Amino acid sequence: MSNPTPLIKPANPNFSSGPCAKRPGYALDQLDISTLGRSHRSVVGKDALQKVIRDTAELLQLPEGYRVGIVPASDTGAMEMIMWSMLGARPVDVCYWESFGQGWFADITKQLKLENVNEIKSNYGVLPDLSQVNPANDCIFTWNGTTSGVKVKNGDFIADDREGLTICDATSAVFAMQMPWEKLDVTTFSWQKVLGGEGGHGVIILSPRAVERLENYIPSWPMPKIFRLTAGGKLIEGIFKGATINTPSMLCVADYQDALNWVKNIGGVQASIQKSLDNLAVLETYVSQNSWINFLAEDPASLSNTSVCLSLDLDSSQIKQLIKLLADNQAAYDIGAYKDAPSGLRIWCGSTVQESDLTALLPWLTWAYLEVS
Ligand SMILES: Cc1ncc(COP(=O)(O)O)c(C=O)c1O
Repeated sequence: MSNPTPLIKPANPNFSSGPCAKRPGYALDQLDISTLGRSHRSVVGKDALQKVIRDTAELLQLPEGYRVGIVPASDTGAMEMIMWSMLGARPVDVCYWESFGQGWFADITKQLKLENVNEIKSNYGVLPDLSQVNPANDCIFTWNGTTSGVKVKNGDFIADDREGLTICDATSAVFAMQMPWEKLDVTTFSWQKVLGGEGGHGVIILSPRAVERLENYIPSWPMPKIFRLTAGGKLIEGIFKGATINTPSMLCVADYQDALNWVKNIGGVQASIQKSLDNLAVLETYVSQNSWINFLAEDPASLSNTSVCLSLDLDSSQIKQLIKLLADNQAAYDIGAYKDAPSGLRIWCGSTVQESDLTALLPWLTWAYLEVS
């Protein structure tokens, strides 16, 4: 049976889950690089850092008193810094349903060796029973499980009058999903995901209660300089005003500013969330029309609108061939499932991906499926 190749290719075939596609219209020569070659502690350097911090807080509409800091080593750096600085004061509930969350659980139990740890877990495709979260405990979870395509439905499982702190790894959620900030004491993310920024830098967002913990709890283990958020029992406020712990890439900062300006220009965070939801809708229609492809997420209410994970009625070597065919034809790059996840596809639908590119991808997906099956 003949299987003609589709005529139109996505204008941008970048559907990776990180680093994600650059924003539409991105061009290096549009970046304000006036800080390059200057000290990050000069007036211009610090002003640039302060501006991205301010714009992040404004765009995300953070509550009064929340702080935003830029830290080293991307989202992993941000999460490790928080776990090492804050955990141990209370028992901790660790909720996870895919490999990144599982990684935090492993660090808490095997590296920090905490004893009072409740493991609240589930398999790929479903959320665990979040009603088990105890408001007296600290709680760690990922807002969006990037490798399973399952996100929390909302923050209703978090008590308003909790005594413990919530620590949320939201790297593939912030700017694409509604975040209930009052329920989140610590939130982390990195620039290369929803915003299509550059890797290397992490962001931490702290509620006043998180700061209170930092200032009143001293962990029993040594704290490397790169993790230290306090000095003499006080928060190092400078970190939240652009005085970074060590040297950031000012080129990445300029790139992040460009991404923030783009969010502002398209209408703010509601618009960037909507773009991602519209992208997901394209895939939802396709999945509903093709019985050979399904979302890994079982419950539509927890289906991720950024890292969309799909299972196919093909074996893993056929899936590999399909992925290669799509890449060889410049129709889609980097859409294989994460190495630790069930084999399948993961198609990024975050805000920087264009709906027209996803629409153009779909005939290619059908074509490649027919080629390998
Ligand atoms: C949920 C989640 N946590 C952590 C990470 C690690 O992020 P980074 O590479 O920014 O450290 C990722 C990366 O994909 C992720 O999706």
